[in-house]
Amino acid sequence: MGPVGARTGGRTFAHDGCSCPEWRRAGAERNPARLRAPDRLAILIRRAIIVFGLALAGAGAGIAGWVLSAPKPAFSAADESRLSGGDPQKGKLVFDAGQCASCHTSPGQPDRLRLGGGMALATPVGTLRPPNISPHPTDGIGGWSPVEVANAVMSGVSPSGQHYYPAFPYTNYARMEVADMRDLVAYLRALPPVERRPSPHDLPLLFTIRRGVGLWKVLFFDPSPLPAEPSRGEEWQRGRYLVEALGHCAECHSPRNLAYAVKADQRFAGGLNPEQAGSAPNITRDRIGSWSKADIAEVLTSGRTPDLRYVGATMADVVTNIAQLPASDRAAIAVYIKSLPAIPTPDEAKHHRFPQVSERR
Ligand code: HEC
Ligand code: HEC
Repeated sequence: MGPVGARTGGRTFAHDGCSCPEWRRAGAERNPARLRAPDRLAILIRRAIIVFGLALAGAGAGIAGWVLSAPKPAFSAADESRLSGGDPQKGKLVFDAGQCASCHTSPGQPDRLRLGGGMALATPVGTLRPPNISPHPTDGIGGWSPVEVANAVMSGVSPSGQHYYPAFPYTNYARMEVADMRDLVAYLRALPPVERRPSPHDLPLLFTIRRGVGLWKVLFFDPSPLPAEPSRGEEWQRGRYLVEALGHCAECHSPRNLAYAVKADQRFAGGLNPEQAGSAPNITRDRIGSWSKADIAEVLTSGRTPDLRYVGATMADVVTNIAQLPASDRAAIAVYIKSLPAIPTPDEAKHHRFPQVSERR
């Protein structure tokens, strides 16, 4: 039951000058100055509690967000010896399987081992320029410790404790074996130093707040090792490792959600090319079920598909790298790809819009 005055549209009649409790409360709402002191104090206290509670909740969320988004590098100074003294010969295989050259080779020069960086890597939010990872002491990573390199590649954390953007596929490399990381460090050290400072990334201001990547990682980054699958054979295990930890095939061949993370239940079903040019096709049985293991290995060796096309676009770079691996590794990749469950192609990847390259090499 509201006060009489309120029910008559704010004008008061019967209660004018009256001191019954209902009228006091109605008057107080219209005119706080008419409150008696203890009532005013009660309201002030109540408001203060609400404001304080909101501030506390906000600060709590802020602190929780800050704590959650903190960089969590996998390696510390104690791991220095585990990551030192690697074999550069073996590291070459890791480098090729991980296709580091695709993004870090400087454009406009033919040598894919000159890792001066600077290519324009288009993403939905802006253009990234992969940095110089040659062993140049100031322009590259020549001055970095093995632990610092490993934390960049496997945890997406820089030496100064900043998050890297997940366009750098550390989300996959995180599952690399430590021995492979050690060999990769040794190989990178052995490459020619390149003097070059790529221009900075071109991103809208909001996305320059790297701490935000920490929250993304909480939701979408799983650095745990690949789960054991004891029932599978050795070749399958090797193939899975090459595809899921190093080759980052799912990064291009899967649809992504609004936060730009690969949709876990549609891995390999095809997706927009991350570089926003066309799509990478479905490579599950749903689409290439009729291809033999040898057919898949052939694509990875020469780029030729069983229907006698040659893959182009970013897949041509993938082939340049994967073709360097021993044939047994490409066969292992084929075994793993053949074992993927059939998943229908999502709409976004249905229209495969690449100009067909008839003869590449
Ligand atoms: C798809 C493209 C891509 C591939 C493939 C790639 N990177 Fe990168 N990498 C990037 C981008 C982009 C950055 C910068 C990320 C940022 O600034 O947040 C980066 C950053 C780095 C850094 C940090 C350098 C610095 O100065 O801070 C290192 C080290 C690195 N990459 C090593 C590698 C290695 C080793 C491989 C292969 C195993 C590799 N990357 C493969 C795109 C790539
Ligand atoms: C940088 C993005 C990218 C990565 C990484 C990538 N692919 Fe591709 N892939 C593509 C694109 C784009 C095409 C389509 C090329 C074309 O049709 O010209 C393609 C085509 C293919 C095809 C041929 C499919 C067809 O029907 O023509 C196979 C097989 C394939 N990729 C397997 C792989 C495997 C295995 C890996 C990991 C070792 C991998 N891809 C990594 C982008 C990528």
